[in-house]
Amino acid sequence: MFEDIDFRKMESQISPLKGAWIDREVPEEVELLPNNRYAPGYAWMFSYEKRLKHRIEKTLGHPLGSLERRLFDSDGGLSEGFSNAFVHGNRRNAALPIEVHTAVGRGGLAFSIQDQGAGFDVASTIRAAKRNGRTFFHIAGNGIRSLLTSQRIVVSYSRGGRTLNLMLMFSSLSQVLADLAGQRGE
Ligand SMILES: Nc1ncnc2c1ncn2[C@@H]1O[C@H](COP(=O)(O)OP(=O)(O)OP(=O)(O)O)[C@@H](O)[C@H]1O
Ligand SMILES: [Mg+2]
Repeated sequence: MFEDIDFRKMESQISPLKGAWIDREVPEEVELLPNNRYAPGYAWMFSYEKRLKHRIEKTLGHPLGSLERRLFDSDGGLSEGFSNAFVHGNRRNAALPIEVHTAVGRGGLAFSIQDQGAGFDVASTIRAAKRNGRTFFHIAGNGIRSLLTSQRIVVSYSRGGRTLNLMLMFSSLSQVLADLAGQRGE
C-alpha cells in the first residue's frame, strides 16, 4: 500500500535497528552467480538479490522464511523496485548505478531504491493503477499495481519518482517466534 512516509520515518517505525547499510550497484560490474534464474539482462539483479538476502538474514540472525517471496523474485516488492529503477529510471544503461539503502530493524525492514533517471508522474500512475480496470495495463504493467495492493508492504516515492521507499513490517507473531528461536540459539 502507498503511504506518505519517507525512509527516515520507515527506519523509526522498524526500530530499534540491528543494522543499516548502503549498496551502490552498477549492473555491469556486479559479480554474477552461475545459476541465474532471471531473464538475460537481469542476471545482475538475481545475483545482487541473493547477496542482499544473505546480508539481511545475517543481520537479523534468522532466515526470512515466508517473507522472502514478498521481497524477491517475480512477486517481490524489491524486485519490482529494482527492475523499475533499471528499466525505466536508468533506461537499461548498465553503467549507471542504483543505490539501495537497507535498514534491518527488530520490527521490520526498510529500503530505499534510487535511480539516475528523470522520474515520472507518480500521482497519475498511481491513480491509473487504482482505477483497477484494464486501462491501467495500457500505460503500465504489474509492478506498481502489486505494490499498491500488497497488504504487508508499505511504499512511497520521493525525488519525483526517482526513489522508491519500501517497508515490510514483521507481524508480532513472527517477531515472537524469531526471538524465541534466537534465545534457543537457532
Ligand atoms: N523508477 C522509475 N523511473 C521512471 N519511470 C518509472 C519508474 N518506475 C515506474 N515508472 C513508470 O511507471 C510505470 C508503471 O510501472 P510498473 O512497474 O507498474 O509497470 P512496468 O514496469 O511498465 O511493467 P511490469 O512491472 O509489469 O514489467 C512504468 O511503465 C513507467 O512509466
Ligand atoms: Mg515494473
